[in-house]
Amino acid sequence: MVAREKSERPVRHFLSIADWTTDELTALLRLAADLKAKQKRGEPHRLLEGKSLAMIFEKSSTRTRVSFEVGIFQLGGQAIFLAPAYIQMGRGEPIRDTARVLSAYAHGVMCRTYAHDTLLELAEYSSIPVINGLSDLLHPCQVLADVMTVIEHLGDIQGKTVAWIGDGNNMANSWLNASRMLGFTLRLACPPGYQPDEAILARAEEAEPGTLLTEDPAEAAEGADVVTTDVWASMGQEDEAAERRRIFAPYQVNAELMARASDGAIFLHCLPAHRGEEVTEEVFESPASKVWDEAENRLHLQKAIMATIMCGEAPTG
Ligand code: CP
Ligand code: NVA
Repeated sequence: MVAREKSERPVRHFLSIADWTTDELTALLRLAADLKAKQKRGEPHRLLEGKSLAMIFEKSSTRTRVSFEVGIFQLGGQAIFLAPAYIQMGRGEPIRDTARVLSAYAHGVMCRTYAHDTLLELAEYSSIPVINGLSDLLHPCQVLADVMTVIEHLGDIQGKTVAWIGDGNNMANSWLNASRMLGFTLRLACPPGYQPDEAILARAEEAEPGTLLTEDPAEAAEGADVVTTDVWASMGQEDEAAERRRIFAPYQVNAELMARASDGAIFLHCLPAHRGEEVTEEVFESPASKVWDEAENRLHLQKAIMATIMCGEAPTG
């Protein structure tokens, strides 16, 4: 018997928005809207009948876990929740071995992890699609669901201006990738030392000359169609929370900052939110805030991703 090496099957992963072409991303967004409409009408759309999604969570989750689990169920399949403490990966079984074993049972793997390299290794050794459910570097499912929300509320995202206020984190990096691929302007206001990934920023600047990185939230928000932010301390940065609260205090999204945005501007936040820190209660609960639609769209967008990349034949092991 030949040992299983790296996967040589052509497999489509969803690790980064930047790995997909503009046409492919547009098709995903259209399919997500279509699946949302079907679900609202109660029309069956069991596109992944009998298929299984393995879900590895190295970090906590509410939205990602529930939306993937419910999503694959609505598509006719099932999800298997894998917490490191209860699988052998948590006792040191290599990612590459886990990847090859899961590839023999399941039809897709969703992974939420710390190091982005974990996802790259998982993808390299998996013969089934791997979906990034958040890494320290990127959160592509969330940002594409955010784009879907912008399209729903503002008609389109092309030509619009999005203001990112706060930490240059995984969300900021994925917004940069989205601006590059989907043709909108991104302005980021981040404190020094908390700026987005340099390479991702450089590629976005090259593709979208309007891309702006500033330390001034007012400059970023001026005339923006969308104002968005995230927690000041991401998962894994809990020890830095107090210092970050001090550094990020001038980066709070409040009514004064929202007043600088365009008329009809919307507010987005991937959640969970810390009211009174990165956003005031007033803005978070205002009519401009579309955070619940944004959270709901995780379900529809991820169903579109799964239906697109997990529709191939069952792995043969
Ligand atoms: N926005 C998001 O990914 O939420 P969870 O951490 O609850 O999955
Ligand atoms: N930046 C946050 C996003 C949570 C959905 C984190 O990584 O914790």
